[in-house]
Amino acid sequence: MARPKIALIGAGQIGGTLAHLAAIKELGDVILFDISEGIPQGKALDLAESGPAEGFDAVMKGTNDYADIAGADVCIVTAGVPRKPGMSRDDLLGINLKVMKSVGEGIAAHAPNAFVICITNPLDAMVWALREFSGLPHNMVCGMAGVLDSARFRHFLSVEFNVSMRDVTAFVLGGHGDTMVPLTRYSTVGGIPLPDLVDMGWTTQDKLDAIVQRTRDGGAEIVGLLKTGSAFYAPATSAIEMAEAFLKDQKRLLPCAAHVEGSYGLNGFYVGVPTIIGAGGVERVVEIKMDKSEQAMFDKSVDAVKGLVEACKGIDSSLS
Ligand code: APR
Repeated sequence: MARPKIALIGAGQIGGTLAHLAAIKELGDVILFDISEGIPQGKALDLAESGPAEGFDAVMKGTNDYADIAGADVCIVTAGVPRKPGMSRDDLLGINLKVMKSVGEGIAAHAPNAFVICITNPLDAMVWALREFSGLPHNMVCGMAGVLDSARFRHFLSVEFNVSMRDVTAFVLGGHGDTMVPLTRYSTVGGIPLPDLVDMGWTTQDKLDAIVQRTRDGGAEIVGLLKTGSAFYAPATSAIEMAEAFLKDQKRLLPCAAHVEGSYGLNGFYVGVPTIIGAGGVERVVEIKMDKSEQAMFDKSVDAVKGLVEACKGIDSSLS
């Protein structure tokens, strides 16, 4: 059987890391697409030359021609610009919306059957716009944010508790922005919910609140340190987890920016929710019960995303 084909739209920091991970995990052949000439070709060649030592056979190809993504099973989109210190993700909206138009049209023309994972920020609005521009089925277009935000939360918790990150599960819902909703009630260490761990004296409510805030600011913390761009290792690893769930029909329960129709009181809207990802793309949106304060935080986050979607419609009238 032929290897799956993975098209990476954007061959920058995240795109290059995605290609490396896809090769090491032998998920399939990789096409690195970018508008910048030489970058995707150079990265593809460099990665291919790591094959003999690493021991993978996947084909790595760099291109500036959308025709090369033809028949891709998965497209992961990072095309656009990242933020600089002092910028919010929302500041990227105008420029990255134009990029989503060309990417959406390219995918529609050459890889209409692909499972598309968007990473470009501001995530929730960009994945909505990408779906609109591409016209692909809603279940085949989603955004990577929840896996990353939950991974950041899990990392901070594992350090606080001095336990393996593998045993920490965490839940982050809502938009991928300052209003994201880390849910402590649904986050556990070996199945023990965080509020119980506070009662057991493992940590204090104040420390937990600080970790929640650090999770919300997780992207900005890295932008502040790097100064020339935003995070790329953890975002790439998170998207690869989603791509693998699709390619191997793993039916993973992963939080992602998905099209919510009917649940959570939403009608046709992209926002971070728990989903099941398998061969059918986003096969299910899982609706969890929220208490009053969680619901209020989620509603606030949804409102923030709605504002960004309206801003997109204001910029590009074809989206109205
Ligand atoms: N089509 C294809 N590629 C494009 C386009 C376009 N229209 N416009 C820009 N690009 C490419 C750039 O040439 C660059 O190589 O997208 C790439 C982006 O790479 P980086 O600048 O290194 O950004 P990266 O860190 O990979 O982040 C990409 O993901 O997390 C988000 O906020 C982040 O929106 C940003 C995106």
